[in-house]
Amino acid sequence: MGLLSLSFFVLWMLEIVSAQPTTSPLEVDAINKIIDHWSLRSKLNVTVDPCIENATWAPESANPRIACDCSETECHITHLKIYALDISGELPRELFLLTELMDLNLGQNMLNGSIPPAIGQLSKMEYLSISSNNFQGTLPHQLGNLTSLQQLYMDSSGVSGPIPDDISNLKSLQTLWASDNRFTGKIPEFLGTFSDIKVLRLEGTNLEGPIPSSFGSLTKLEDLRIGDLGGNDSSLGFLDNLTSLSILSLRNCRIGGQIPEQLSALPNLKILDLSFNKLTGRVPASFKNFSSLKYLYLGSNNLNGDLTSDFISSQLIALNVVGTSINDVNLNNEKASGMLHCLQGNSKCSNKLSTNLFSVNCGGKEQVSADGVKFDDDSEMLGAASLYRSSNNQWAVSSSGVFISNPNGPRYIAQTDSQITNTLDSELYKTARISPNSLRYYGLGLEDGVYRIELHFAEIQMDVSPSWKGLGRRLFDVYIQGVRVLQDFNILSEAGGSKRALIKTFEANVTNTVMDIHLVWAGKGTCCIPVQSTYGPLVSAIHVSQVSELNGSSKSDRMRVGRILGICIGGFAGLLIICSVFYLWWIKKEPGHMKIHTKSDA
Ligand SMILES: *[C@@H]1O[C@H](CO)[C@@H](O)[C@H](O)[C@H]1NC(C)=O
Ligand SMILES: *[C@@H]1O[C@H](CO)[C@@H](O)[C@H](O)[C@H]1NC(C)=O
Ligand SMILES: *[C@@H]1O[C@H](CO)[C@@H](O)[C@H](O)[C@H]1NC(C)=O
Ligand SMILES: *[C@@H]1O[C@H](CO)[C@@H](O)[C@H](O)[C@H]1NC(C)=O
Ligand SMILES: *[C@@H]1O[C@H](CO)[C@@H](O)[C@H](O)[C@H]1NC(C)=O
Ligand SMILES: *[C@@H]1O[C@H](CO)[C@@H](O)[C@H](O)[C@H]1NC(C)=O
Ligand SMILES: *[C@@H]1O[C@H](CO)[C@@H](O)[C@H](O)[C@H]1NC(C)=O
Ligand SMILES: *[C@@H]1O[C@H](CO)[C@@H](O)[C@H](O)[C@H]1NC(C)=O
Ligand SMILES: *[C@@H]1O[C@H](CO)[C@@H](O)[C@H](O)[C@H]1NC(C)=O
Repeated sequence: MGLLSLSFFVLWMLEIVSAQPTTSPLEVDAINKIIDHWSLRSKLNVTVDPCIENATWAPESANPRIACDCSETECHITHLKIYALDISGELPRELFLLTELMDLNLGQNMLNGSIPPAIGQLSKMEYLSISSNNFQGTLPHQLGNLTSLQQLYMDSSGVSGPIPDDISNLKSLQTLWASDNRFTGKIPEFLGTFSDIKVLRLEGTNLEGPIPSSFGSLTKLEDLRIGDLGGNDSSLGFLDNLTSLSILSLRNCRIGGQIPEQLSALPNLKILDLSFNKLTGRVPASFKNFSSLKYLYLGSNNLNGDLTSDFISSQLIALNVVGTSINDVNLNNEKASGMLHCLQGNSKCSNKLSTNLFSVNCGGKEQVSADGVKFDDDSEMLGAASLYRSSNNQWAVSSSGVFISNPNGPRYIAQTDSQITNTLDSELYKTARISPNSLRYYGLGLEDGVYRIELHFAEIQMDVSPSWKGLGRRLFDVYIQGVRVLQDFNILSEAGGSKRALIKTFEANVTNTVMDIHLVWAGKGTCCIPVQSTYGPLVSAIHVSQVSELNGSSKSDRMRVGRILGICIGGFAGLLIICSVFYLWWIKKEPGHMKIHTKSDA
């Protein structure tokens, strides 16, 4: 009896052992070559068979990860993940022998060279990520052979040039991240045929508009972000039927015409950003009917009309109409209207005498610098659209925008514990104001005169390490008194390193008590290195002082602060913070000269 059951047991064991089929020798050989190519042997000790049962490298959480499908007569490698491990060099050709791969994640590495045509052999792929790498050249048209692809991540991957037409075969795509690549040509019409697509990101490319009307059929779209289009104007007409939209960001896309009434019928829309376009007319009255809208950004458009409180839907958290002619009658509260009047030049901005300097330790506590300048406390937590006025009434700061990928994170201040080099004032640079969109400082109650503006910068969120983490690029623009003084400004490259101080110095005139220093993100650079939402303007400190008086002639063609809208209301049970901020206009159109100096801190 015992003997019999033992032999059954042995037979059963044999059954089990032989139930695990062998792995394709071609794939075993290929994966070993890949492991050696990227020197991963110490992390991925695949000795005999990459597909052995319960391998330590097989669970979903493993990285690097190899997982297999053994359901057929032979095991095949179906999953390969080498994520954020700083593998470098080109893709080895053995990779393309793993033709059963469904899931390949090579994101956040230092890979270079081109994406070879052989990628077309991986036709079973469902998930592919090459995000945040250093690739060169165009996408091969063979990528269009990956017809099962559902998710494709290639943002900040380094690829460039025209998007090949064969990509139109990727009809199963649900997620496409393609931002921050130097793609050229028009936005492909065929994207409008990806009827399953839910997420599409195309910001910071060199693509040209218009946004194809074919996008009107993408009714499953939940998250659409397009930005920085050249070419021809677009309209918002395509949005009517996109009822799944939750996030819609179309910044700087040359969108003209009026805002369609029907937009407010999008039931799930939470974030709407149409900043930096050419929209005209009024904000439709129907906007009060939005059922889910929380963040609304309409700044820098040719919009006009009145904002009234019944226009605002009750769940709105933030509204920005900076740089439009929208009037805010009926929205003023007392505190705000005092501010408003001072910024309009109708009254002095402080009760005290006017001043001729101000200094701010952006994002930090009061700090006296090595040469005795007192930088004011600016550690107040700002929201997605807010305005804060300093206690000495010498300056105010407004921030607008939401870090879309983590809207609830209080991330409007950056901080580091590291020492800052190239300065005697390390502490001054250990905190900084950051913003996903617009960060604006106003000097208030200033005497007329010629002023010197020192902007202090140090990159404290990005690194220059020889790693994928060193691939981050923060680019933003700076305007002083409405004149752009810095474009595509990159602190890290100008300072020559991370956590290294850099002072940029400018000169500008004050003729109407206000100094306007505006830092704006124009959609360029990386979004997500080393972590999600690492982009947008950053400034460490500001020091503004008068250098001389204005002489008579310049007063006649003075810049005028026009009808300024500057309000901040926290009301409606604390849910609503509205802050429409200012616009400036000139009596004389020509921008005038502005002297620009650079020096690095001693
Ligand atoms: C790989 O695993 C084998 C046994 O499974 C072990 O003898 C060897 O030392 C390991 N190699 C490395 C580099 O960890
Ligand atoms: C793999 O793990 C499962 C579940 O823990 C277990 O039942 C099985 O015996 C293991 N197989 C081997 C070969 O270790
Ligand atoms: C790719 O990276 C490798 C390893 O870092 C380097 O040796 C090679 O020069 C790079 N090639 C190109 C074309 O940049
Ligand atoms: C496209 O995929 C098929 C398998 O689906 C394969 O036979 C063919 O070689 C691939 N074409 C290219 C250009 O890689
Ligand atoms: C929206 O759908 C309706 C009904 O199917 C259709 O007539 C209309 O043209 C669509 N609008 C857009 C902008 O695609
Ligand atoms: C812009 O529109 C004009 C007129 O419709 C057309 O000739 C031109 O090719 C378009 N340019 C682009 C880049 O789409
Ligand atoms: C808002 O919605 C209500 C109810 O659906 C409707 O009666 C009203 O006309 C809408 N208002 C506007 C301005 O569209
Ligand atoms: C500022 O004022 C000075 C002296 O009055 C004048 O020479 C200069 O042109 C003015 N600059 C601007 C930008 O208006
Ligand atoms: C105006 O400023 C210019 C340059 O700063 C100077 O040369 C000139 O003398 C000044 N004129 C008066 C009236 O002060």
